[in-house]
Amino acid sequence: MATIENNKRIALVTGANQGVGFQVVKELAAQGFTVLLGSRNLERGETAAREIGKGVHALHLDVTDQASISDATEHIRKEFGHLDVLVQNAAISNTSKGNLSLQEYHQLTLASKVSLDEVRTVWETNVFGVLSVYQAMLPLLRKSSDARIVNVTSGLGSLTMTSDPASPYHKIFDPVYSASKTALNAITVAMMTELESTGIKVNLVSPAYTRTNLNGYEGTESVAEGSREVVRVALLGPDGPTGTYTMWENVNIPW
Ligand SMILES: NC(=O)c1ccc[n+]([C@@H]2O[C@H](COP(=O)([O-])OP(=O)(O)OC[C@H]3O[C@@H](n4cnc5c(N)ncnc54)[C@H](OP(=O)(O)O)[C@@H]3O)[C@@H](O)[C@H]2O)c1
Repeated sequence: MATIENNKRIALVTGANQGVGFQVVKELAAQGFTVLLGSRNLERGETAAREIGKGVHALHLDVTDQASISDATEHIRKEFGHLDVLVQNAAISNTSKGNLSLQEYHQLTLASKVSLDEVRTVWETNVFGVLSVYQAMLPLLRKSSDARIVNVTSGLGSLTMTSDPASPYHKIFDPVYSASKTALNAITVAMMTELESTGIKVNLVSPAYTRTNLNGYEGTESVAEGSREVVRVALLGPDGPTGTYTMWENVNIPW
């Protein structure tokens, strides 16, 4: 087991070689955490970890691959014996948009037309991947005296907002990415319920609309600005709340 880092808090961020996850790793490391930078491609993860530097270790983790999840869990168990913060950030928005405009892609993803393969592949990462990593990491989180799980979702997952015809999300809600975030919210409620009598806190957070690969860099916020709520919640101490669904700054999103 690592000795030098034993007294530091240990965090794992999934899908952290770029975008919001990368920013979260950077800020947790700056706060003195030992951070495992999860990446489905180890080389990209190592490059990202080197870029941030001290306190950051790349960890191969493909959230759709059970063997990779098991290996990553075993690695953390052997090296650190526990996990304090788990940020489930990895996600994809589509597999087939290619060069289509958002409008063109939206037409392809209407409920009546969408390819079930497209739905399944996105849900495999955004929903089942999160549940699988949760199941694997929970025994390590239970060994922490102050553990927190932060699931990175989207305002698009809010049924209250998307079912409101006045909401800008109403017309763009689709069975692929949007509904994957609704499903993620639902399984997170199940995690919140399961853990409410334990010390383990569970929060859902939406970044702002951020310029990342996920949206073809069309977001309006920089990665640093867009990631602020995820960082704020990941850094909450033992007195911080559980069971929340928020965006910057601590604004509740309706379920
Ligand atoms: N950007 C926004 O405006 C926005 C708004 C609301 C919510 N969000 C949420 O914020 C989170 C981060 O998104 P982002 O905007 O930072 O997107 P991003 O830059 O595309 O980053 C997504 C990360 O997830 C990784 N990933 C994808 N599939 C994976 C898998 N099977 N296993 C492990 N890692 C995987 C990607 O790896 P590769 O580099 O290998 O592709 C990448 O590192 C997501 O949950 C997203 O839904 C983003």
